[in-house]
Amino acid sequence: MHGAHPLPPPADTRVTLDPNSLASFVDPLPILKIAQSSGTRPSPGDSKVEIPYYRVEMRELESHVHRDLKATRVWGFGASSPGPILEARSGEPMLVEWVSALPQRHFLPVDHNLHGAEAGLPEVRSVVHLHGGRVPPQSDGYPEDWFVPGKSAFAHYPNQQEAATLWYHDHAMGINRLNSYAGLLGVYIVRNNFEEALNLPRDKYEIPLVIFDRMFDKDGQLYYPEAPVPNAPWMPEVFGNAHLVNGKLLPFLDVEPRKYRFRVLNGANGRFYHLSLGNGVFFQQIGTDQGLLPAPVPVKQLTLGPAERADVVIDFATHGGEQIILKNDVFTSIMQFRVAKSGGKDSAALPQALRPVDRIPESAAVKTRQLSIDEYRDLTGNTTLMLLNKSYWHMPVTEKPVLNTTEIWTIVNPTDDSHPIHLHLVRFQILDRRRFEPFAFQTAGELKYTGPVTPPEPGEMGWKDTVRAEPKMVTRIIARFEGYTGRYVWHCHILEHEDNEMMRPYEIVAS
Ligand code: C2O
Ligand code: CU
Ligand code: CU
Repeated sequence: MHGAHPLPPPADTRVTLDPNSLASFVDPLPILKIAQSSGTRPSPGDSKVEIPYYRVEMRELESHVHRDLKATRVWGFGASSPGPILEARSGEPMLVEWVSALPQRHFLPVDHNLHGAEAGLPEVRSVVHLHGGRVPPQSDGYPEDWFVPGKSAFAHYPNQQEAATLWYHDHAMGINRLNSYAGLLGVYIVRNNFEEALNLPRDKYEIPLVIFDRMFDKDGQLYYPEAPVPNAPWMPEVFGNAHLVNGKLLPFLDVEPRKYRFRVLNGANGRFYHLSLGNGVFFQQIGTDQGLLPAPVPVKQLTLGPAERADVVIDFATHGGEQIILKNDVFTSIMQFRVAKSGGKDSAALPQALRPVDRIPESAAVKTRQLSIDEYRDLTGNTTLMLLNKSYWHMPVTEKPVLNTTEIWTIVNPTDDSHPIHLHLVRFQILDRRRFEPFAFQTAGELKYTGPVTPPEPGEMGWKDTVRAEPKMVTRIIARFEGYTGRYVWHCHILEHEDNEMMRPYEIVAS
């Protein structure tokens, strides 16, 4: 669960729209479009080879989030927010030109107190990162590689990785939380032959669901609060009372009584989702951040921290004629599935074995790093600063794994919050979590364990790129640092934390 912060208050109903005042399930779920390439271009890796070229514009758009609201100003990619799905195949590179056609002014409140967002810098800056992509450093969307409206950046995506649901989003230093909240995110799917041979539900029976929370003002416009208290010059967390799926508020989806595959992404700035289905329906979780699990895991409640993905199969076969609600926690409706009374034959499979995921033995690690998550508060309890390993972004790089070596990162979280920790470039496995005594750690740097070693949840037993570092727990992950040498980042994926220094560079060095 997410810990108790004194700030901010829940959505202020004097300025924000109460979504409960709107009719539920009156808009169909938007099905995200698949991006089309604009021919080919020479590969940055080998100019004699032509690879597919995509040109994707970031733009200000009008979005219809609900039947009874007027158009909402958002920022999206191409014609929509979330943007179009970029589809790739393992081993087949592509080139994406990310173009900023955004306006010169931000429509959300920029906080110039934050590092990288100082007054005097261009107000609108953006840079796109492919989350979960094994991407060379110059194409990774380094937070300081932002560019301004009228400019663009070419990204080379080699796709030398296994099938998975990745996503792309803004990563500009100091305003990432605002650009993402404005709508700069989208899904990127890597496919391969192995996965296709499993005969999982596909085509119109395979649907990405991008879920995030927002606040709207009474005019139906996005509302992002400004820092409310003089002592806390920034927003430590922002939670919306309106939940959107693929950009719609409380949508419905007509389904047939058969199996569907949903690729669920928590695209929220800071909210942890605990999803469940009505009518006794449950999820068969088949994948996590970096692709398939070894075997399907039946899940009643699906927990997803910001940036985490779950690939699930839902079988509506025995629910013909029913209306099934997807909920968050106990009371909040997210969307509705309307199951037709009858349908065609379901020829898709849900195999009992999906793919082997060999566990990396701890003995493979050449190094173990202990890294802390630090929140600082003033005397009134307001959170004033958040760091990783007591280090600011601009301090020298301290994490320098050697290319093609394996390391264990021991993440010590003495805070009351769960922090979704994400490493760029690499995939990892979760080793375990263990409760410890925060006071001894914070005062004397001593790690005193107070609970047993707990293994990852069954739905976490695959390849991950984002891990929930739970409050007052030590979370250990193991990763092989392969792919490229160069500068990357690791950070908390609560975007308000990330923008307030809970992000650090790391560098993969040649042996
Ligand atoms: Cu989702 Cu640094 O990324
Ligand atoms: Cu990332
Ligand atoms: Cu955090």
